[in-house]
Amino acid sequence: MSVPGVPNLPAQPRPGLRPDPDWFRTAVFYEALLRSFADSNGDGVGDFRGLASRLDYLAWLGVDAIWIPPFYPSPMRDGGYDIADYTGVDPRYGTMDDFRALVTQAHERGIRVVIDMVLNHTSDAHPWFQASRRDPDGPYGDFYVWADDDSSYADARIIFVDTERSNWAFDELRGQYYWHRFFSHQPDLNYDNPEVVDAVHEVVRFWARTGVDGFRLDAIPYLVEREGTNCENLPGTHHLIAGLREMLDREFPGTITIAEANQWPQDVVAYFGTPQAPECTMCFHFPVMPRIFSSLREGEATAIREVLQATPPIPPHGQWGTFLRNHDELTLEMVTEAERERMYHWYAPQARMRANVGIRRRLAPLLGDSRAELELAHVLLLSLPGSPCLYYGDEIGMGENIWLPDRDAVRTPMQWDHSANMGFSACADPAELTLPLISAVDYAERCVADALEEPESLLHFLKDVLRVRREHPVLGRGDFHLRPASDAAVLAHTRADTPPGGDASETNDGETLLCLANLANRPCEAVVEVPELAGCSTHTVLAADSATASPAIDARGRLTAALPAHGYRWLRVSPGEGL
Ligand code: GLC
Repeated sequence: MSVPGVPNLPAQPRPGLRPDPDWFRTAVFYEALLRSFADSNGDGVGDFRGLASRLDYLAWLGVDAIWIPPFYPSPMRDGGYDIADYTGVDPRYGTMDDFRALVTQAHERGIRVVIDMVLNHTSDAHPWFQASRRDPDGPYGDFYVWADDDSSYADARIIFVDTERSNWAFDELRGQYYWHRFFSHQPDLNYDNPEVVDAVHEVVRFWARTGVDGFRLDAIPYLVEREGTNCENLPGTHHLIAGLREMLDREFPGTITIAEANQWPQDVVAYFGTPQAPECTMCFHFPVMPRIFSSLREGEATAIREVLQATPPIPPHGQWGTFLRNHDELTLEMVTEAERERMYHWYAPQARMRANVGIRRRLAPLLGDSRAELELAHVLLLSLPGSPCLYYGDEIGMGENIWLPDRDAVRTPMQWDHSANMGFSACADPAELTLPLISAVDYAERCVADALEEPESLLHFLKDVLRVRREHPVLGRGDFHLRPASDAAVLAHTRADTPPGGDASETNDGETLLCLANLANRPCEAVVEVPELAGCSTHTVLAADSATASPAIDARGRLTAALPAHGYRWLRVSPGEGL
C-alpha cells in the first residue's frame, strides 16, 4: 500500500501477528484518533479506510498496537464517548465491513487493535435511555440510576467541573433525576440491575467476535454507586470488572483489557485484581504521568521516584500502561494541590490552556518544543515500568489550538504532507474538516513527509528508540528497581529479567539494563549504586551523547556517569572480568 505524499517506506519484516499471549508486555501502543487521523472519502472526517491506508506508516514507526477511541454512532457531544448504539459504527467512519477490513489489515502487518468500550454511561440519545425515560416500568425502566430527588451520593465529586454543577440532572419526561458522572447528556448505567450486566457482556462479546485484541475500558472506577462513599473504586465495581474479565478469558482467551482509572497508585493497582480474580490486563499509570512533566521543570527526579516508590507491586498477569499525552486534558487530578498550582504555572500560563482539572495542550508546545526535553520525556516513557502509549501527531511534534473548545484543542487533523489539508483529507473544503488544521506559526507546516525526509527529525529519533526498545524486551517485561544516585537530578533504575542478585547473563533473556536520566537543564555527574552488579561492565545501547565511553561498575557496585543537560543513557550490563 502506498501512502500518497509520503516517500516510500521500507517494507517491514512483520508478516502477521506473532502468536504471543504476552504481546502486550513488550508492545508500543499508539492512540489513533479516528476522526482526525486520515480521511479517505473527502468528507472532512477521518475514517477506517483512511486509518487503514496509514498502517504502513505505523508499522514503519514500530507501533505494535493501535487504540481506536469510540467509533460508535454518537451525537458527538463528547468526542464519541457518548454512545448512542453499542453495536454499530458511525457512518461518518465507514461501515462494519470497513472496520473488519481495518482489523484484518492491521493484523497482516503485525499490529494489534484495541478498541474503546464505554461501560459507565451511554449518550442520552441511546434507545435504552429513551425507553427508560418513557416507560419506568418497561424493560429498560431500571437501566439507569433514577431518583426522586438529587440528594443521594452527595460525597461523589464532580469530574467535569468546567460544565457540570451536579451529578444529578432532572428529566422532565420521567419526572425524576438521573445520575451522571460526566456530562449531563451521559446518563450512568445502573449496574445494580443484572440485565444491564448481561447487556454489556453481550456488547463486549459482539466486538470480541470481530477479532479485536483488546478493550480500553473507559472510566471504570464509577460503575457502582453507594450511599456514604465517594462512589469510586467500590467492591461492586471491581466485582463487575472481574466478571467481564472472566467472560473474556473463557470465551475469547487472550483478549486484553486496559483500565482507564484515573486514581492514586494504590487504588489503580486494585484494577489488576488478584491472581484468583483477575481484572484488567493493563492499567494506565495516571499518577506517574504529570510527575514526568513536573520533574522536568524542577530539574529533579524526586517526584517520579516518589510516585514509583508509592506504587505497590502488581500481580504477575498485569502490566502498566504509560503515556505522556492522550486525547484528554493532561489530567492533574492525581497530584497534590501545591503540585497542581506549580504545573499550571509552568505549563498553562493562560487560562485558556486549562480544562477541568488539567491542561489541554499537546506534548511539543508543552515542552517549549525543546528537542532535548522531548527526547528525555520519551526515553523515560519507554524505560519506566509498563507498555507505552503514544498519542497520534506527537511523534512529529504537532501543535495545539487552544482557541477550540474543551479537549478539541489537542484533537486536530493529523498533518501528513503539504498537499490539500496537510494530507489529512484530499478534497474536503477546509471549512468542512472535523476540526480546523493547526495554523499556529511554527506548527502549521509540520508533517510526516518532511519528518521522514529529515534524518535528524523527532520522528526518526522516536523510530530509532522504539527499535532499541524492541531489541531489549527487558524494558517491557523486566523487573524494575530504583537505584540511589548521588545527584537528585538523576533518575537511575534497572530493568532486569533476573531479580537483583541473580546472574546478569549475556543472553537477551537474562538481560539487565541500567537506565539513567538527567532531569536537570545542566550537565551532571552522578554516582549510582548497583551493589549486586559490582565488577560488571556496561555497554551503551542508547545515549544522548553516544560518543562517551560506557562506564564500568566498580568493585563496590558504584557507577559514575556523566550526563549532559537533559541527557539520558541506557546501559546493558554484562559480567565483567574477574567476576
Ligand atoms: C474518559 C474519556 C474522555 C471522556 C470521559 C467520559 O475519561 O477519556 O474523553 O470524556 O471518559 O466518557
